[in-house]
Amino acid sequence: MATMHAMRIHSFGGPDVIQLDEVPRPEPERDEVLVRIKAASVNPVDYKIRSGQFAKAEQLPMVLGQDMSGTIARCGTQVQDWETGDDVFAMLPSSRHAYAEYVTIKASDAVPKPQSIDHEHAAAVPLAALTAWQGLFDQGGLQRGQHVLIHGGAGGVGHFAVQFAKAAGAKVTATGSNADKEFLRELGADQIIDYKTERFEDRVRDVDLVFDLIGGETQDRSWAVLKPGGTLVSTLGPPSSKDKAQARKASGKGYGVQPNARQLAEIARLIDDGKVRVYVQAVYPMRNAAEAQAHLEREHARGKTVLSAL
Ligand SMILES: NC(=O)c1ccc[n+]([C@@H]2O[C@H](COP(=O)([O-])OP(=O)(O)OC[C@H]3O[C@@H](n4cnc5c(N)ncnc54)[C@H](OP(=O)(O)O)[C@@H]3O)[C@@H](O)[C@H]2O)c1
Repeated sequence: MATMHAMRIHSFGGPDVIQLDEVPRPEPERDEVLVRIKAASVNPVDYKIRSGQFAKAEQLPMVLGQDMSGTIARCGTQVQDWETGDDVFAMLPSSRHAYAEYVTIKASDAVPKPQSIDHEHAAAVPLAALTAWQGLFDQGGLQRGQHVLIHGGAGGVGHFAVQFAKAAGAKVTATGSNADKEFLRELGADQIIDYKTERFEDRVRDVDLVFDLIGGETQDRSWAVLKPGGTLVSTLGPPSSKDKAQARKASGKGYGVQPNARQLAEIARLIDDGKVRVYVQAVYPMRNAAEAQAHLEREHARGKTVLSAL
């Protein structure tokens, strides 16, 4: 049986539970492609799963990682749209994982890699960019001319959200650290609020949409800046303060990002057209996934953290 290397966890805990293992190499089903992974990205969900959230002990040992960019190594017998050697990227479904040499995915879930960026930048895109897209447009219904407040605008999801909202013709206010002010301005934010020294309630009001990537008291304080009938969309679970929402006649929504090849292809077009920039702060060899996760978890993230091929 063919084997491959993968970074797996055998127990939940700190970054050092991630280890290099030899595991069976997957075989593509008839409607699948086998992809040689050239890069993966690190998302907060990876370290949350590693530390025991969102996963059960019965699932161990498990490989982590939902984003990959790579090259098709083999096509299943019914696959017609792809050929060996094609460069693709994808957000993987929850049953597949990217901290590995190879992965199989449904041929219809693969998307041509943007041509203007390398695999390491392409791998940084799928989960974070789809989260931004689905949060702003599918959940938040953001329209041209509306005002959106994005909490955490300089991070993995936020840096895409700022650019998508601008490209859609919205007015964008973003919160972030002072160190990220220039970065946020370059991404196109109209107004930037340093969350460590300023209260966003003092700077904005009558916002159509709050896109919350932080949760907790940031989310709770956000109702006050919404216009009547406005919407608060959060990646950190359904907003809880029902009475504050009602008082504002506002609605609150939580959601989980879903793979979506059509949306990812649209995002790839924006990247190749030069309308959206992918910012990778750090690239680690995949063998050093523990260090990469510790970086994202403990240090201040700007844009994305990526793993190069095993
Ligand atoms: N529901 C879903 O499907 C889904 C999908 C993707 C992500 N998420 C969640 O969404 C969150 C964001 O994800 P991400 O990938 O963007 O994370 P990330 O790359 O770690 O970015 C978070 C950003 O927020 C900044 N920040 C921290 N505290 C802040 C505050 N109080 N106000 C404003 N900015 C602040 C951080 O920088 P500084 O510390 O330097 O300020 C960093 O730039 C995570 O909790 C993640 O698990 C959920």
